[in-house]
Amino acid sequence: MRIGAISDIHLDVNEAYPVIHAICNRIRTEKLDALLIAGDISNSYHTSIPSLNRLREEAGIPVCFVPGNHDMWDKEGEFGDARKIYEIYASRSDCLCGKIIDLNEECAVIGNIGWYDYSFGTAAYSEEEYRKKEHNERVWQDSIMVNWHQSDKDFHKKILQDLEEKIAACKGKKIIVVTHMVGVPEFKVPEERPDWDYFNAFLGSREYGELFEKYKVDYSIMGHVHYRKKLLKNGVDYRCVCLNYHTEWLSGDLDQEVGEAMQVIEI
Ligand SMILES: [Fe+2]
Repeated sequence: MRIGAISDIHLDVNEAYPVIHAICNRIRTEKLDALLIAGDISNSYHTSIPSLNRLREEAGIPVCFVPGNHDMWDKEGEFGDARKIYEIYASRSDCLCGKIIDLNEECAVIGNIGWYDYSFGTAAYSEEEYRKKEHNERVWQDSIMVNWHQSDKDFHKKILQDLEEKIAACKGKKIIVVTHMVGVPEFKVPEERPDWDYFNAFLGSREYGELFEKYKVDYSIMGHVHYRKKLLKNGVDYRCVCLNYHTEWLSGDLDQEVGEAMQVIEI
């Protein structure tokens, strides 16, 4: 069985490019049996939901996803509560949040958005400074557009607990976990980049990686950081599979970028 994984397809930012068509072509050339999407389909559920429907129709294979932080954005304040948007996604049968999806008798996929607890930040900043999500006049947009009505740390703990319950229930199986946020510090943004010693705090949590190692998860699929990387660490195969914004594509060629971003797992 061949499972493809991709994330951060940002269909609104990349609207000048036929991204869904390119992904479906890749599904066929790679002879995939299923596709996993690790979040950031677009900046609004108004775009992400119909896009997921279109992708499901055109892909011709099962497609499962987790939302990313951008999919939770509520620009117009229509919901005022990110939990309502989360529920819209989670209620779909193709959303991994709160579910275990068996790919076959031996392999299960588990997923959730993941969140951040500032554990990828540094001691140079206080908890108070991280809560502001603002540094050198740059604002982390989740602070304006995502309101969980609880602290980042509390929401992260809730997601962590859900993941642990599902992972523990799949003991003895091969496990693929999909999150939008990253779980190990090797996937932070290099701190030499201006302000990233601060903004790394909003990339995920060390506790996800610790959880994956504790339960010997086979694969961790992630997005969010807008680069691509593979890392085998303490028995977990970590894959960051971001397609990114077209402005970040080094080749300028959509098909090539989809090919480079998408990872294939054979089980
Ligand atoms: Fe993204």
